[in-house]
Amino acid sequence: MAKEKVLVTRKIPQAGIELLRAQDYDLVIGGDEPMPRAELLRAFAGQDAILCLLHDAIDEEAIEAANGVRVFSNLAVGFNNIDTEACKAHGIRVTNTPDVLTDATADLAWTLLLATARRVVECDKFMREGNYHGWGPLMLLGADVTGQTIGIIGAGRIGRVVAERAKGFRMRILYHDEIAQPHVGEWEKEMGAQHVSLDTLLAESDFVTVHCPLIPETTHLIGAPELKKMKKSAILINDARGPIIDEAALVEALKNGEIAGAGLDVFENEPEMAPGLAELENTVLLPHLGSATHNTRDDMATLAANNLIAVLNGEEPPAPVV
Ligand code: GLV
Repeated sequence: MAKEKVLVTRKIPQAGIELLRAQDYDLVIGGDEPMPRAELLRAFAGQDAILCLLHDAIDEEAIEAANGVRVFSNLAVGFNNIDTEACKAHGIRVTNTPDVLTDATADLAWTLLLATARRVVECDKFMREGNYHGWGPLMLLGADVTGQTIGIIGAGRIGRVVAERAKGFRMRILYHDEIAQPHVGEWEKEMGAQHVSLDTLLAESDFVTVHCPLIPETTHLIGAPELKKMKKSAILINDARGPIIDEAALVEALKNGEIAGAGLDVFENEPEMAPGLAELENTVLLPHLGSATHNTRDDMATLAANNLIAVLNGEEPPAPVV
């Protein structure tokens, strides 16, 4: 019998590759960079299973090119890059990598929050440029974190862990979630978290942090009107998906002092940034690193490989989307 054909669109951690190699597939692994679209579509032909990444757009055209594929195993928890409805209609399974990256992604939101509040990047630059000539009582003052109000948009896995960390900072925790989450009752009590409208969250939070999925309803959830509702002293954090925030509007709000700062790990048109963003000192900008720790990426690669293997074995994958 011919070997099953498996494509991994780009190099992933060895932990996942080893699992796939142990299966005796006809395995093709991409290079260090994302495959250009035309190459990607050509490589899709005849595959039984594809392990794809968040920059691979799996739309109707890609699904057609992958005629006969049984699973798209996404190496990410977010799956906005995949047309899941179309996959479902074609009987193709889609899987993702939840849970294993929750802590790392929540930690990175906190890294951004603290770094933006205390102007860490700006202060580091100040040191490196030789501007430190002695301690000063008014020098490089930042925002308080402990005891302040945090507003969490999206009380899914990551948002809830961000709240746990906030408890350690004795913060008042507000959250807003468009989708009723059946599990939040207990968590709410434990955290002392309060569900509020988006408007209340924006108006009352010192830190607004975004942890919802990117779906049509959350695209530009934070635009010019929402930014105007925030405190002038507030800081906005996003390590979910860029298009949830209208980035051009954010640049304007930061320039005009409508909000105090932003810590961003994701951008509307990655890897591009909105014009003007990089020139602003009141921002901390990271290249989409939410899950980028050694162990987390190994665990993601392992889970993505196991998802793929399960589907090819005719079993239910550990982390199904559809
Ligand atoms: C990363 O952004 C992910 O969705 O896993």
